[in-house]
Amino acid sequence: MIELAQRAERELPPEVWAYLMRGATVGESPWERWRFAPRVLRDVRSIDTTTKVFGAWRSPIGIAPTAFHRLVHPGGEAAVARAAAECGAPFVLSMRATTRIEDVAAAATGPWWQQVYLMRDRGITDELVRRAAAAGATALVLTGDTPYVGRSGGRGLPPLDDDLALVNVAQHLPPGADAWAAIEQDAGACVEDIGRLADLAGLPVVVKGVLRADEARRCVDAGAAGIWVSDHGGRQLGRTVAPAQALPRVAAAVGAEATVLVDGDVRDGLDALAALALGADAVFVGRPILWGLAVSGADGVRSVLNDLHDELRHVMGLAGASRIAELSDDLVVAR
Ligand SMILES: Cc1cc2nc3c(=O)[nH]c(=O)nc-3n(C[C@H](O)[C@H](O)[C@H](O)COP(=O)(O)O)c2cc1C
Repeated sequence: MIELAQRAERELPPEVWAYLMRGATVGESPWERWRFAPRVLRDVRSIDTTTKVFGAWRSPIGIAPTAFHRLVHPGGEAAVARAAAECGAPFVLSMRATTRIEDVAAAATGPWWQQVYLMRDRGITDELVRRAAAAGATALVLTGDTPYVGRSGGRGLPPLDDDLALVNVAQHLPPGADAWAAIEQDAGACVEDIGRLADLAGLPVVVKGVLRADEARRCVDAGAAGIWVSDHGGRQLGRTVAPAQALPRVAAAVGAEATVLVDGDVRDGLDALAALALGADAVFVGRPILWGLAVSGADGVRSVLNDLHDELRHVMGLAGASRIAELSDDLVVAR
């Protein structure tokens, strides 16, 4: 993975690389705090990684929503969606996509989900949500950690043509509107929006960016079908607890009432194994997908997903588990 990152850095203009890497963890991965206590003498001749999470998947390692894929490669979100579907991995389309929702849906030969930022212009937000539902999204991922964009996040974006950045919203803008102001995040978003979005789209809503057990409960009580433990790749509030640390408490608070997802610094099969054992139903990667995309388009994305999937299968067997349902928290011990 380090080599892939280095190749991507060579491939990309420095300002695009800096944008991708803002907020990235430096030093030890927070997943390394978890040590494995493997089972022995289990029949692991065949390893089954299939899972059902708002869709049926071959792999529980999916693609987190990231903005502006065409900054990285002309194939953009359509290439990523196609690669994900071919690998049987969940794909989440960012609301800050540089490809039309309908074109991404056409490229995806499997299920996909739509990420949602509640924008200041709620009318535009609703139009995009309706279009995603009509195009076949099977879930909405409402990002809850971004009342406004953090200084280490999207600020200082590399130059981006309006016809790329506004490709999904331009048609919904009132005449003469300031497009960039209209699509800024609405700092007044609240838990009532969960039910409103679910009704509008007729889809389950996952809340992304949760790091506390009590907030997870509050979102589930307000109608969330899933909780996505995430610190937005370190790009929103700084110095938060790591998702790798917050996950067990959130999973315990949510229980079987909702699906639990996680992202942040997942870079190999061991990270994914720890996350699944600690209660996640699926695990997501952000930057590695962009590195793969930068280096070789859809092929690069496929190779990141396939490598992670192969590694997960390998370490599941070594841990003595042959099915995702066998991954439980007795397999991990805090260092
Ligand atoms: C360049 C970049 C753009 C992102 N854009 C979005 C976005 O549009 N919506 C969102 O919910 N999260 C966004 N994220 C956060 C990711 O969904 C995810 O939480 C994070 O990247 C996971 O960490 P990882 O990169 O360490 O795998 C973005 C992250 C990066 C690095």
